[in-house]
Amino acid sequence: MQDEPFTPVEATAAETAATSGKPDGPAEACRAPARQARRRYQALAREHGEEAALTHVEVRRRVLVVDDEPDMVDNCARILKRAGYQCLTATDPQRALALVEAERPDLMLTDLKMPGMDGMEVLRRAREMDPALPVIVITAFATIESAVAAIKDGAFDYLPKNFSVDQLRVAVERGLRQRELQLENRNLREQLQGTLGFENLIGRSPAMIRVFELVRKAARSDANILVLGESGTGKELIARAIHANSPRAAQAFVPVDCASLPEPLLESELFGHEKGAFTGAVKAKRGLIEVADRGTLFLDEIAELPLTLQAKLLRVLQERQLRHVGGTAQIDVDVRVVSATNRDLREAAAKGQFREELYYRVNVIAITLPPLRERAGDLKLLAHAFLKRYGGERVTGFEDAALGALEAYGWPGNVRELQNVVERACALADGDRVTRVDLPDYLLQGGAVRQTGGGAAPGAPLPSSDDLPLKDAKDRWMRVLEASYLRELLGRYGGNVSAAAKAAGIDRKTFHRLINKYQIRG
Ligand SMILES: Nc1ncnc2c1ncn2[C@@H]1O[C@H](COP(=O)(O)OP(=O)(O)OP(=O)(O)O)[C@@H](O)[C@H]1O
Ligand SMILES: [Mg+2]
Repeated sequence: MQDEPFTPVEATAAETAATSGKPDGPAEACRAPARQARRRYQALAREHGEEAALTHVEVRRRVLVVDDEPDMVDNCARILKRAGYQCLTATDPQRALALVEAERPDLMLTDLKMPGMDGMEVLRRAREMDPALPVIVITAFATIESAVAAIKDGAFDYLPKNFSVDQLRVAVERGLRQRELQLENRNLREQLQGTLGFENLIGRSPAMIRVFELVRKAARSDANILVLGESGTGKELIARAIHANSPRAAQAFVPVDCASLPEPLLESELFGHEKGAFTGAVKAKRGLIEVADRGTLFLDEIAELPLTLQAKLLRVLQERQLRHVGGTAQIDVDVRVVSATNRDLREAAAKGQFREELYYRVNVIAITLPPLRERAGDLKLLAHAFLKRYGGERVTGFEDAALGALEAYGWPGNVRELQNVVERACALADGDRVTRVDLPDYLLQGGAVRQTGGGAAPGAPLPSSDDLPLKDAKDRWMRVLEASYLRELLGRYGGNVSAAAKAAGIDRKTFHRLINKYQIRG
């Protein structure tokens, strides 16, 4: 916006018309949600002051304004904020693209002429990151041709530089509506194709077919779901499938790893914070629960959530409202919670490590994923799917002996472990088939515990059972298996415990305890 100043035409008159409730054509329908948002903003501003209201209102609809001219950006931001939107601003195209990536705005408004990178380029790159992002370009009359070109390139609309307040609001509201429709359409199309969320889930065993059926039914409701299963059984994939098959599919799916952050950080990640709430809180930040508003919050490793945060989360689920760390305003949130754990949450609740009320809240429907060794027939299917993914055109099959070894193994790390083994084998294979030598030693040596059918597959040695009762023999086999799995994994990650623990899907402390138990050195 270098050549012409911004002149909002009849700002006051237009705003009065917009709030008077007088119908004035099709634009009126577009304006209604913005008006509701504005009312809510005004109520909040009266109660908590303008600053607080600005950070809390309309977290759902966020508009990014990009222009190298700060006055232009400020003016647009002011108008849009007053209309109830949350506004992100950038005077530099690179910063604008970073915001598109990090903040996922619902709409972008950009000038066409900027130093460094022109608006067309910003448009193209932003839509590469988010193909459903509606972009409105601002252009001088003299460059109307470029506006038309921008539309051809995927811009949703353009505004002349001397746009009125009303024109801006209507264009933004239409753009947002188009985004919603587009997301709904995509969702419907995928549902019609019957692939939604299930395309990545491989399994034809009766146990997995039962899981898929339950997912389909449970997804339709708004009930909170707890996904249970050993590490690597696909709990996160199932959580994503639940979201994708739910009425919330067009909204966000927000994963949170409850084990990955220390308590204070996790608290502010989940609940958000106000500016100055603690040292380092230089600006207010929305929490992930708010980001998941109207969508699905995926609480991974929920058993690791500290007790104090469990209490806070319980309150949010009961009251459907939350408060930022250091804040006073109550913010409405509507989230569906899907959680996952590989621990026995009921037992944790009985021991007082997990709040009982929260356990019942998050476990309205439980979906238990069977370990891979109990999914008859799925191993081959999965192995071939991973072969296709990692072997490409070069490695196209398994030698019988290699497949036999895979089938004979017990897979304590479940599907994730199988995926890693096949990826590694594809990288090592010399010819067009995976052979036994491409498989890790631990798998060929100690890995004969295949529990389906109750016995070991032929060809792979078992540690002697010494006439032990089955339970004790199993324990012995599992120890051998666990030790060789850990040793191999640690070797693969060059002795890096954090990386190996991550790949194993267990926390660092547990990994340490186990390698000490087996006296494994990195
Ligand atoms: N049924 C399946 N079909 C295809 N891929 C699968 C299936 N189940 C799991 N996977 C793959 O295995 C890996 C592990 O899955 P995921 O992360 O969902 O497991 P998890 O149960 O959440 O594990 P953890 O408890 O360790 O977090 C992922 O790469 C996932 O894509
Ligand atoms: Mg997981």
